[in-house]
Amino acid sequence: MPVVNLRSDTQTRPTEAMRRAMAAAEVGDEQAFLDPTVAALCERVADLLGQEAAVFLPSGTMCNHIGLRLHVRPGGDEVILHRSAHPIMAEAGSPAALTGAMVYPLDSDDGTFTADQVRGALRQVGNRYQPVSRLVHVEQTTNLTGGRVWPLERLDAVLDAAAEAGLRSHLDGARLLNAVVASGVPAATRWTTTSTGWPTTMRGRRCSPTGSPSCRASRSTRSWWTPTSWCSASTTRPRSPTPCARTTSGSARWTTPRCAR
Ligand SMILES: Cc1ncc(COP(=O)(O)O)c(C=O)c1O
Repeated sequence: MPVVNLRSDTQTRPTEAMRRAMAAAEVGDEQAFLDPTVAALCERVADLLGQEAAVFLPSGTMCNHIGLRLHVRPGGDEVILHRSAHPIMAEAGSPAALTGAMVYPLDSDDGTFTADQVRGALRQVGNRYQPVSRLVHVEQTTNLTGGRVWPLERLDAVLDAAAEAGLRSHLDGARLLNAVVASGVPAATRWTTTSTGWPTTMRGRRCSPTGSPSCRASRSTRSWWTPTSWCSASTTRPRSPTPCARTTSGSARWTTPRCAR
């Protein structure tokens, strides 16, 4: 029996049908919003998440970063998130490097956290010595703590606590659709009423080999484009990791060259 490895999109391979669908897809000028395939995908995903609009981005990391960038103002605003969350563990310090954000890591065994933990992390409003609490970031399912699904009531309470304190919220839905299947709770519930959020269309489901539509609870997508252009610029400049040497074990060693100015 053929084994299907669903562990990560880095390990799955497109099927023949997917390759054919890609080759035959109707395409157009995506920058001018004239690519019918991308437009249909964005609309479908915005509907799925109960959000107003979506923008297609090439990776989940970019969705997280652009979400962060939209909410956090330069100069030390703080993001409250779990210690094991992807921006802390796997985005090369980009909250600090690209946005100047402080992170406030919360602890728990399963990667979720409580409304009380959020309240306990809030900075004192008007205290000029402290950063400004700005964003709560949640990961559904939690990744590095074993793929736990956030219970709806817990997430509800966390989002309420954030909203009561005037904070925005962001959903990293790299495995949101796994949570939908595991729990039977539809995607467009309070789970996805965050200010921004994204599900991946590639991870685990062998659905598409690239891209994650990033959704927003606002029709206006204008403010998305500035950080999106910055991210595109930084990936086309020599900033992205380049394999530079093989280690003795044969695995590639990666370095990030200095950005040429
Ligand atoms: C929880 C989580 N968020 C974000 C990402 C980043 O997604 P991408 O690999 O598309 O950049 C991953 C990748 O595995 C992830 O597990």
